[in-house]
Amino acid sequence: MAGNKTLAIIKPGAVRNKHIGHILSKIEENGYTIAAIKTIQLRLEDAAEFYAVHQGKPFYQELIEFMSSGPIIAMVLLKDNAVEDFRALIGATDPEKAAEGTIRRMFATSKTANAIHGSDSDENAERESSFFFSRQEWLRKTQVGLD
Ligand code: CDP
Ligand code: MG
Repeated sequence: MAGNKTLAIIKPGAVRNKHIGHILSKIEENGYTIAAIKTIQLRLEDAAEFYAVHQGKPFYQELIEFMSSGPIIAMVLLKDNAVEDFRALIGATDPEKAAEGTIRRMFATSKTANAIHGSDSDENAERESSFFFSRQEWLRKTQVGLD
């Protein structure tokens, strides 16, 4: 059965362009509960660890430099079928290929600066949530009736 949690990141470009409010509205309008949220700036080595799966790919260096170039918003989002539905809401990696109305189509400025990250599996949602938050940070919030 599909899980109910995903990890999202508003990337540095979208933060710099002051799209946080718009993006959070779109997330809430689409039925997600924001169970945990924080502003944080990754060091280069943090971004390298987060995206370690892409190490060696041609876009890796640019990606980790971009992801550590300014503050990001990390969040744990809850909803039935969260991973798959959120990937549909954000759209394709390349904003030019992202469907009309998706977050990347609306707010990305390039393939690297594509506004937002969403976990690609339940396993990675778990791993990525733990990367940014202690279990207590999001569990406590979900236990106080945010749903
Ligand atoms: O984020 P998503 O899962 O859609 O794509 P990915 O293939 O896991 O790549 C991670 C991130 O690397 C993307 O969101 C882009 O920011 C960046 N990327 C890039 O700059 N150029 C590519 N050709 C592919 C990915
Ligand atoms: Mg990915």
